[in-house]
Amino acid sequence: MANLIGGVATSHIPAIGGAIHKGIQQEPYWKPFFDGFPPIREWLHAKKPDVLVIFYNDHGLNFFLDKMPTFAVGAAQQYVNSDEGWGIPSLEPLRGEVDLSWHLINTLIDKEFDVVSCQEMLVDHACSLPLKLLYPEGNYPVTVVPVCINTVQFPLPKASRVYALGKAVGQAIADWNSSKTVAVIASGGLSHQLDGERAGFINKEFDLQFMDSLLTNPEWATQFSIHELVEKTGTQGVELLMWLAMRAALTAGAGAGVRKVHSNYHIPISNTATGLLALEKTAY
Ligand SMILES: [Fe+2]
Repeated sequence: MANLIGGVATSHIPAIGGAIHKGIQQEPYWKPFFDGFPPIREWLHAKKPDVLVIFYNDHGLNFFLDKMPTFAVGAAQQYVNSDEGWGIPSLEPLRGEVDLSWHLINTLIDKEFDVVSCQEMLVDHACSLPLKLLYPEGNYPVTVVPVCINTVQFPLPKASRVYALGKAVGQAIADWNSSKTVAVIASGGLSHQLDGERAGFINKEFDLQFMDSLLTNPEWATQFSIHELVEKTGTQGVELLMWLAMRAALTAGAGAGVRKVHSNYHIPISNTATGLLALEKTAY
């Protein structure tokens, strides 16, 4: 059976790609953000995952407002990266893990999560930036399965539903008939609002409480409705649903134990709160 080792959650602000491209990671503005990553890269280097299952939200590249699945799972041999002109030049296509894709799709449908299966799928900065941040040398030593969760157009899935989806994904990974090592990635959040009267809204107190809850009480955020989450985190802050899915995936099995590998929180980058958290699964 596959070995699920843990997960990493990170923000995916497009400007991060520009900073990487320009090589300004150690300038004062960016240093507090990029300095969060080396301990997590070391952990990944030691654990050597073969496959990353990436919870992320598309921003209008592959799914536009006319067709917006609530949950979609990639089942492609490769995922071509494209971006909106903010970030790094498009990266080489990400290599798919097709066998795990179909195992996830079959398992999720069987558990009544009616996911859209995507045998062709473009991926934007939400998928490519975590890879660039975690493997800055390029030539990614991993294959991927993108799992897209709609946080762009209402109605959005409830936090409790996303938690249940993450849990089902974790169980499916654990049951995958493979000797490969898998990690789950969450790409999104934390509190931010890009437009409207509350543009620039950041809620540090809530962000830190949410990050803490993922260690000690992972279902804590499921008490909130989507509208309450928007109120507390901003219109785009609901991307924290990805973090919830990642954490839920690690609860699969008899135990829910995790240990914190490393975390980082820094405000602001652009007009957002940036968060980073790596958790190692300690109970199976
Ligand atoms: Fe985003």
